[in-house]
Amino acid sequence: NISQVQARQILDSRGYPTIQVTLHLEGGGSVEAATPAGASTGAHEAVELRDGGGPFGGRGVRQAVAAAEGELATLLTGRSWPSLADLDAAMRELDGTETLSRLGGNTIVGLSMAAARGFAALDRIPLHTWIASQTHSLERLPVPHFNVLNGGAHASNDLVFQEFMIAPIGAGTFENALEWGAEIYHALAFRVKRQFGTAGLGDEGGFAPPIAQPEQALDLLIAAISDAGYTASTDQVAIALDPAANGFRADPGYELPRGAVSTDELLDYYVRLVDTYPIWSIEDGFAEDDIPGWVAQYSRLGDRIQLVGDDLYVTDPMRIAAGAADHLSNSVLIKPNQIGTVTQTFEAIRVARENGMTCMISHRSGETLDTFIADLAVGAGVGQIKSGAPARGERVGKYNRLAEIARSQAEVPYGLY
Ligand code: PGA
Ligand code: ZN
Repeated sequence: NISQVQARQILDSRGYPTIQVTLHLEGGGSVEAATPAGASTGAHEAVELRDGGGPFGGRGVRQAVAAAEGELATLLTGRSWPSLADLDAAMRELDGTETLSRLGGNTIVGLSMAAARGFAALDRIPLHTWIASQTHSLERLPVPHFNVLNGGAHASNDLVFQEFMIAPIGAGTFENALEWGAEIYHALAFRVKRQFGTAGLGDEGGFAPPIAQPEQALDLLIAAISDAGYTASTDQVAIALDPAANGFRADPGYELPRGAVSTDELLDYYVRLVDTYPIWSIEDGFAEDDIPGWVAQYSRLGDRIQLVGDDLYVTDPMRIAAGAADHLSNSVLIKPNQIGTVTQTFEAIRVARENGMTCMISHRSGETLDTFIADLAVGAGVGQIKSGAPARGERVGKYNRLAEIARSQAEVPYGLY
């Protein structure tokens, strides 16, 4: 039972406001959560409630704080909640909109994450263990996908693809994976500094050198992996891309640095990259509205690599089910704040699995110190997470939480699902 709800405006990793909530539990103790925010958001994501006027160019969340401490606090306190599903459904119903625009997806997901922590505390078990029981999963330590070169909406360079990630698939343990990732990151720093004289960072802690061509980024990664003494291959240190194609969509095609391309030409380009580099996964290779692009990609690359839908699905169970039926992709990116409640996040994972799709748990480019997604990745046993570079506090917080879980749960296996 919740005795009091408190909320406040804090800054996220980009210096913009976001909401942090505290639930005080009857019988003592409290639980907390903070909501992250995206920059390259999908059109169908849960809507963030922002003030629209006042400081921070209208990006303040004072109305969201008021909603949490007002209407939502009245709902949540003074009754006992049999399950998180009941609590989440009641918040949705109180909001009354499909996209949670009245009380804010940012408000509701924060309360939902805190409430999940409350249920775990009530059972006196760690959050990841509680999540495993709720989602009927076998716990697993995920392969971290370190986003070490940043472009797109996350950097000020001309690199159109948003994320170039390294995935230590063959590291054997999470501890090794973290070590490999950090060593490669440092090797990359050395190269980037030498070649460009500066090693400035993008929003997710990856380097953002002044390059434009994806091949330049991929060549840098391959060199850094080898400098650090590891093998770049799809079963050792693999590469994963998130082009985030909404960002360079120029309907009916796309705008690449070398000029405009059609959907078919973009797909040919991805096939060439997959033929040339150890790329094991591509996320949002096509824009959310380019369904023919997704269908063509699935038929040409679906049996070779993982094809992840992020903006395409926005963690929405219905969209995921439809995407599976239409053969749009074989994998789903999972971001709790895209859909607005933890219960629907669990449902999204369930639907993905039921359809034979893999899941990758994800942070947002605007993050906080909240490590909920680390426990979610282990508890739901999906085998993959992306939380940015192995640098910057808000990114490594999630990786360090995973390392902490790995240390305390020696029997939990590491690796892809
Ligand atoms: P976002 O980017 O958090 O800015 O939306 C992350 C992603 O596209 O995966
Ligand atoms: Zn993405």
